[in-house]
Amino acid sequence: MILVPEISGVGQKPNYTEYNRHPYLFKFVSDIIKSPDNILSFGCSIGEECRAIREIYYPDTKINIHGLDVRESNIEYAKKNTNKNLNIQFYNYKTFIPIEYDIIFAMNCLCHYKLGIDRWIKTVDNILDMVKKDGIFVFHNTTYDITKTKLKDRIDIVTIPESYNYLIDLKCTYKKTDVLRKVK
Ligand SMILES: C[S@@+](CC[C@H](N)C(=O)[O-])C[C@H]1O[C@@H](n2cnc3c(N)ncnc32)[C@H](O)[C@@H]1O
Repeated sequence: MILVPEISGVGQKPNYTEYNRHPYLFKFVSDIIKSPDNILSFGCSIGEECRAIREIYYPDTKINIHGLDVRESNIEYAKKNTNKNLNIQFYNYKTFIPIEYDIIFAMNCLCHYKLGIDRWIKTVDNILDMVKKDGIFVFHNTTYDITKTKLKDRIDIVTIPESYNYLIDLKCTYKKTDVLRKVK
């Protein structure tokens, strides 16, 4: 399986990230999958997302947390500035070897995408290939609606109960398709 990397200057540029940016999604997912083997933050930027996932939601360092980003400077920064005791592995496309993940977070990274829908679908298809069957794909803030593409047969929507609404940050717009289960 070959991941579709970003083409410099064509795809998404903004680098903004935030520690524990989406507690609404993190908390729900960590409640439904309590003991995953492997978690990937796709488009992890400088590592804040991985750090929050470890420190707040999955503190057991036997759970593998990987971060992948197309921008090598982000990965260099993340490696240098993340406490080694957290046991988080960061990769760029030169070092990343795809494995199967119980959970993949792809948040705020396949939005503002100027490559067109075909390349976007190919990228998302590649990401889905890495999610274990019945694993969770958290796909937040995206250019296109995955449920309106040919990838819809690969996923089921997982509905987040209203009891989690207290965690919604009004800066963020959540869609009912943010949390998906991979079915094939
Ligand atoms: C706005 S930041 C979001 C970071 C984090 N996921 C968050 O939600 O805070 C988007 C990141 O996705 C990365 N990115 C964009 N397209 C990518 C691709 N095809 N593969 C890997 N990383 C990508 C960018 O380099 C950038 O660091």
